[in-house]
Amino acid sequence: MADKLLKLKGIGKDYAIKSKEVMRTKQILIAVDHVDLEITKGQTLGLVGESGCGKSTLGKLICRLEEPSRGEIIFSGRPIHDLKGKSLRQIRNRFQPVFQDPLGSLNPRLNVFQTLAEPLRLKNKPADQNAVITLLQSVGLGPELLYRYAHQLSGGQQQRLGIARALSLDPELIVADEPVSSLDVSIQAQILNLFLELQKQLSLTMIFISHDLRVISQLVDQVAVMYVGRIMELAPTQELFTNPQHPYTWALLEALPKLEPGRKRKRSILTGDIPSPINPAPGCHFYSRCKYRDAGCEKYENALWQHSENHQVACQKMGKIKK
Ligand SMILES: Nc1ncnc2c1ncn2[C@@H]1O[C@H](COP(=O)(O)OP(=O)(O)O)[C@@H](O)[C@H]1O
Ligand SMILES: [Mg+2]
Repeated sequence: MADKLLKLKGIGKDYAIKSKEVMRTKQILIAVDHVDLEITKGQTLGLVGESGCGKSTLGKLICRLEEPSRGEIIFSGRPIHDLKGKSLRQIRNRFQPVFQDPLGSLNPRLNVFQTLAEPLRLKNKPADQNAVITLLQSVGLGPELLYRYAHQLSGGQQQRLGIARALSLDPELIVADEPVSSLDVSIQAQILNLFLELQKQLSLTMIFISHDLRVISQLVDQVAVMYVGRIMELAPTQELFTNPQHPYTWALLEALPKLEPGRKRKRSILTGDIPSPINPAPGCHFYSRCKYRDAGCEKYENALWQHSENHQVACQKMGKIKK
């Protein structure tokens, strides 16, 4: 059996927030709701969904930068959801996040050399100029940048440095959260190519988060589609594009710009806001936007059903509806 590096079982995260309507009362915002996921060593998983659906929160839960409100996280066979103190700090070192805003995630007081030498030293690896230059080259940066500070680099260079920093710590899992969405379109493709190359060379295990299904499609082995805190569909990438089963995935795919000139995009049902995760109505979270809904959907909590091997769908009408 393939080696499961990470297993999430029924993971959820609630935030207590102040009510806007009634003073001094609290409301519960369910950012992530009973998520089950597994990731195999060497595999890449794409997490896609509209803004606010809980992707970043799930990424932080996986890296244990946030504490789950419920559920289990098993990493290399060991439960890590309730670790605290020193053992929590140790486990965090085995994950590396790469963030959307590279400048904000780099220390402004360190130059490029210091940014990379410090984690290399931490791992007891050679941390001299040559070692740092080799690391820089692995992400497509030249030695002329060694003594520059983060703010003196372009956005693309900053993100390359962020990726080099993550790699310097030999992480067992990289969680890249929208790593190209703050970059110019022309630079985005270069950084995606870098991820692809690194993936091939180093067999990274990676979770790649994006609100853009096209970005995800080039890069990952399987895709999890998220909606208001829940996973709606999980399938190998090719299967998700050729044989999608969930009405929400259909809508996401329909909303993609078409390549053929002159062919119009269908009017998407995904206009308007994603429903609020504050006190969500019981039943399927996609209910309010779904044209296939019926009374049964009001009692269905989006448990994932097996559609075929490796393909799971959170729609109680799976197989009974057509696009
Ligand atoms: N620290 C927090 N406190 C309160 N609400 C939060 C916090 N972090 C995220 N949220 C809320 O949780 C939901 C999911 O957010 P997020 O995970 O950032 O979504 P995404 O990354 O998909 O855009 C949003 O409604 C957001 O406002
Ligand atoms: Mg996010």
